[in-house]
Amino acid sequence: EPRPRVLSGIQPTADSFHLGNYLGALRQWVALQDDHDAFYCVVDLHAITVEQNPAELRQRTRVSVAQLLALGIDPERSTLFVQSHVPEHAQLGWVMQCLTGFGEAGRMTQFKDKSARQAAEHVSVGLFTYPILQAADILLYQANRVPVGEDQRQHLELTRDLANRFNSRYSPTFTLPEAHIVKGTAKIYDLQDPAAKMSKSVPAGMIELLADPKASAKKIRSAVTDTEREIRFDAEHKAGISNLLTIYSSLTGKTVAELETQYAGQGYGDFKKDLGEVVIEWVTPIQDKVKSYLDDKAELDKIMQRGAERARHVAARTLAKVYKKIGF
Ligand code: ADP
Ligand code: NA
Repeated sequence: EPRPRVLSGIQPTADSFHLGNYLGALRQWVALQDDHDAFYCVVDLHAITVEQNPAELRQRTRVSVAQLLALGIDPERSTLFVQSHVPEHAQLGWVMQCLTGFGEAGRMTQFKDKSARQAAEHVSVGLFTYPILQAADILLYQANRVPVGEDQRQHLELTRDLANRFNSRYSPTFTLPEAHIVKGTAKIYDLQDPAAKMSKSVPAGMIELLADPKASAKKIRSAVTDTEREIRFDAEHKAGISNLLTIYSSLTGKTVAELETQYAGQGYGDFKKDLGEVVIEWVTPIQDKVKSYLDDKAELDKIMQRGAERARHVAARTLAKVYKKIGF
């Protein structure tokens, strides 16, 4: 019985991943390796849907791979690669664009949200067709499962529609991917504005994996909380402390109830100070590993090259079938 195949990607568009990326996604990437045939890619093709500085993009791609390795993605068990190293993504992406209706693409709500914030001449066509490239990313590997958050559901539906369309227009070719709702993911909120999700676009309220751990602890100590004293989970009325409880629980494995008991009678200051220590202890060995991957340039290159070879082995097979059926 082959293990189900899972595919996921992350953009190399920040100097560091943040705690939201880890607790909301990357931690599950690590866990999924145990019972899945996992394909994980750093999606640099998606990154250029908005303008990137070349040297920065190159460096961020390497740092992204190093962080994934440091967090526990095992390049022996999983196929870890950089999207642009596998030209089949762009090739199948074009085929998928030609299968997609203009109106169908125009109904993608994430594009509407993202493009609404910018003047039309600054919005690239690539940003518009990005969900179609994402469909190609998934279908190339015949992935059975894709871990998705709410914001990606519509894109996965498009992927399934395109797979179905190709399969019925030609003949069965693509596996229909299912949404994989992963247990144990947590949504993490901005430390300064706990009504908003932690995001790379708001540095003040974000904890970065690669930031100075002491500075991160300080950010936690100055996180926005309510005016009560009681350490109690209540996402609606006590969003700030609830977010910190989620982070504390996620990083230590203690349940929220255990933490509430442990901190009964203590103030927010004590709790935040301890959580700062938890973050320092968690992040320091990860930073050491990232550094050692980045210091050994040849080894990191080798890992990326092997990953790309393994990915291409699968991707090229799918693309060859597709091209033949189309009439190329
Ligand atoms: P950002 O929101 O900082 O731009 P991305 O959109 O690049 O981050 O997200 C990469 C992955 O991390 C996605 O799977 C996304 O769902 C997850 N993620 C991002 N921010 C959070 C958060 N605050 N809480 C939980 N998961 C998050
Ligand atoms: Na985002």
